[in-house]
Amino acid sequence: MINPPLSLYVHLPWCVRKCPYCDFNSHEIKAGSFPEKEYVGAVIRDLEFSAARFQGREIISIFFGGGTPSVMSVDSMGSILEAVDANLALSSHAEITLEANPGTADSRRFTGYRRLGVNRISLGVQSFSDDKLAGLGRIHNGGDAASAIEIAAAAGFSNVNIDLMYGLPGQTVAEALSDLERAVTFKPEHISWYQLTLEPNTIFYSKPPPLPEDDVIWQMQTRGQDYLVRRQYQQYEVSAWRRNDRACLRNLNPPTGRPSPYDKNDHACLHNLNYWQFGDYIGIGAGAHGKITDQTATKIVRQSRLRIPASYIDKAGSASAIAGDKQLTETDLILEFMLNALRLKDGVPWHYFEERTGLSPDSIHKQVEAAKNNGLLADDQEMIKATKKGARYLNDLLQYFMLQ
Ligand SMILES: C[S@@+](CC[C@H](N)C(=O)[O-])C[C@H]1O[C@@H](n2cnc3c(N)ncnc32)[C@H](O)[C@@H]1O
Ligand code: SF4
Repeated sequence: MINPPLSLYVHLPWCVRKCPYCDFNSHEIKAGSFPEKEYVGAVIRDLEFSAARFQGREIISIFFGGGTPSVMSVDSMGSILEAVDANLALSSHAEITLEANPGTADSRRFTGYRRLGVNRISLGVQSFSDDKLAGLGRIHNGGDAASAIEIAAAAGFSNVNIDLMYGLPGQTVAEALSDLERAVTFKPEHISWYQLTLEPNTIFYSKPPPLPEDDVIWQMQTRGQDYLVRRQYQQYEVSAWRRNDRACLRNLNPPTGRPSPYDKNDHACLHNLNYWQFGDYIGIGAGAHGKITDQTATKIVRQSRLRIPASYIDKAGSASAIAGDKQLTETDLILEFMLNALRLKDGVPWHYFEERTGLSPDSIHKQVEAAKNNGLLADDQEMIKATKKGARYLNDLLQYFMLQ
């Protein structure tokens, strides 16, 4: 077992308004209810408290997710980044992403984030249709989405992701395609294209809106995929597309020194790639999760922080802010490795399995052979990857790795 590359996730849980489809740990800012300073203080204490076990390990990426990180002031983000620098070894090539809601796009603020070293921005556009955005309860319209992308470019962001969703209430295939067409006109480096799902504990779950039929969704997917390929976007994960016009060396710095096929994938999201390749990450902030390898103790743990922001603020900086700390069993490791790896179109090198789980490939030999025989897993010596059929029926493929 080796310590894989290490990322940092920082959760910032506030939003201007709670969207009816969202099950993230996000909370609407009600008048006088935004404890920004207190939360930043808690994040900094948490970083200081957590840093000791990561000495000697470099951080390859930071992701500020939410919630809506773009409701935080430049000063707040600056204080958090200073604390990261003071407590952890941040790579000089680190990818630093911040999620932003187009309804909160502000030129001064975006310029400020960029100056602090944030070098990737992820905009929650969802759709360019005013009508569809209103149906999703969003605070922005199509015009705001377009200007947010322009504001990001003018602020100096040359690595921009646009989040879009399809399968929206009442959406036609033509409307879903039109959102992709509009997105592509801005030539973003990355597009995350998600199918809207009805998540438990959301308003859409208890009062489902009229969603498109399965065959309409299937047409959106297949025609949308063809369209993106024609426009030079390459799908590298179930929902992730990178602009495919420039190749440059990406240094994921694998400790083994053996290259990964994604090293050359310019514009892929380095942070998410590290999750999918079963890398490590520190999770800081209310409800944040982390996955941490301890190669000397040959164990891997999953950690989570208290979910309710007020409790997190109260306890951050001490062990009592840790809600869960669980060593992964062999069964967990196999499933979690596969859940992540098989999302990637090119899969993951076979040697990562042993290096990053500490398990011998023999432990899954029977399952691998069965999945190959059923045409779901590729017969490939180098890479663990799904076949086309396996990618389409991913849940069936994953069943093989749900061991008791
Ligand atoms: C934390 S949000 C991103 C930033 C910001 N909070 C926003 O919404 O603008 C991450 C992304 O997940 C996607 N998402 C959220 N809920 C979803 C759902 N129920 N089904 C599919 N995608 C969802 C959206 O595209 C959203 O932009
Ligand atoms: S803005 Fe984003 S995080 Fe906030 S409620 Fe809406 S989808 Fe969720």
